[in-house]
Amino acid sequence: MSAHVEGIHAAIIMDGNGRWAVGRGKPRTAGHIVGARVVRDIVEAAPSCGISMLTLYAFSADNWQRPSREVSLLMRLFRRYLVKETTRCIANGVRMRIIGRRDRIPAELLKAIHNAEEATKHGRTLDLRIAVDYSARDAIVRAASSLPRGTKHTIEELQREIDRVYHWTGPSRDVDLLIRTGGEQRLSDFLLWECAYAELYFTDRKWPEFSPVDLEAAVQVFRSRERRFGAVPAVAAG
Ligand code: IPE
Ligand code: IPE
Ligand code: MG
Repeated sequence: MSAHVEGIHAAIIMDGNGRWAVGRGKPRTAGHIVGARVVRDIVEAAPSCGISMLTLYAFSADNWQRPSREVSLLMRLFRRYLVKETTRCIANGVRMRIIGRRDRIPAELLKAIHNAEEATKHGRTLDLRIAVDYSARDAIVRAASSLPRGTKHTIEELQREIDRVYHWTGPSRDVDLLIRTGGEQRLSDFLLWECAYAELYFTDRKWPEFSPVDLEAAVQVFRSRERRFGAVPAVAAG
């Protein structure tokens, strides 16, 4: 692993769209529409912050429980995002992949996913992973169930299997920095395995008002932290 030369893997739980809108007397869906615009700014700012992989939590497996109007608007927004952003992603060297289950995704969106992934597959500046119909626990269960029984498996093998069942084809990477907007301090079933040693950063700022300046601030905080991975501080190791 060449963690010192490769960029950060940042993951973001993009939360607070609904509360942002309701606080302005608008329907929750208005927050999702503004939130979708923010994604573009954050994706484009990520490489200059030293981020080489960005995983965004867009829709959890539990989010299907929301009112059907909200769910269908979100599905339409994802599709629109993929279609609209593909050209910019190619120009910016962004490789887009959707991670999560695919068996419950509407056919139209599935088609857009395939097109966007194919069109952007040569991107080398940023790996953009968007989690849709995602549940970390479901991924772990599926991965564990698909490994051959009766033999011992390594952490790396299980990790690769988690990636495979959720359609990630690139290199496996742990999360370096996990950001959650919207004021809640929980993981909501996101990247539980990959966050084993992630630095956690919570901000009250709601996703529709999150800006590249806020991203930069989060990365600054991350850089000021000392990661020890269970060992002693570097200075004490001599
Ligand atoms: C996050 O914002 C977006 C999705 C979960 C799709 P929310 O919709 O959860 O916003 P709040 O948390 O209700 O404010
Ligand atoms: C997590 O946010 C999912 C996304 C941001 C896509 P939720 O709003 O669904 O999480 P809870 O319900 O507050 O835990
Ligand atoms: Mg929420």
